[in-house]
Amino acid sequence: MALLEWRSQFATGVGVVDEQHQRLVGLVNQLYEAISEFRGHEILGQILGGLVEYADYHFKTEEELMSSHGYPALEQHRQEHLKLTAKVKEFVERFEQGKDRILLELARFLKDWLADHMLVTDQKFAPFFREKGVN
Ligand SMILES: [Fe+2]
Repeated sequence: MALLEWRSQFATGVGVVDEQHQRLVGLVNQLYEAISEFRGHEILGQILGGLVEYADYHFKTEEELMSSHGYPALEQHRQEHLKLTAKVKEFVERFEQGKDRILLELARFLKDWLADHMLVTDQKFAPFFREKGVN
């Protein structure tokens, strides 16, 4: 069973953001699945690397969109992305030290963070972009 299911309340109405969010949900589920199937360090590392890279790319997409349209709360939003990135980096370091089991904690943390971020922080820019005609 998937760790996180896509919900309609996650949608922001901005196509590129929603597509990337769905992909992120998929990647978190993929990581969880690999952990559940007791995959080895190398496979887990590949999935983790892909997830980190995609999250980075996604945050850049959001921040560039907010920046180019003059979104007033960009700085606060960026801080949330930065905090998450730093936290994930800590997990990655522990994983690289051979602590594979840490990834279950990471997957659960990402599930909660992502759901909360999509439901609260990302929803704050939804009406702003709607008004600007971004979809
Ligand atoms: Fe965001």
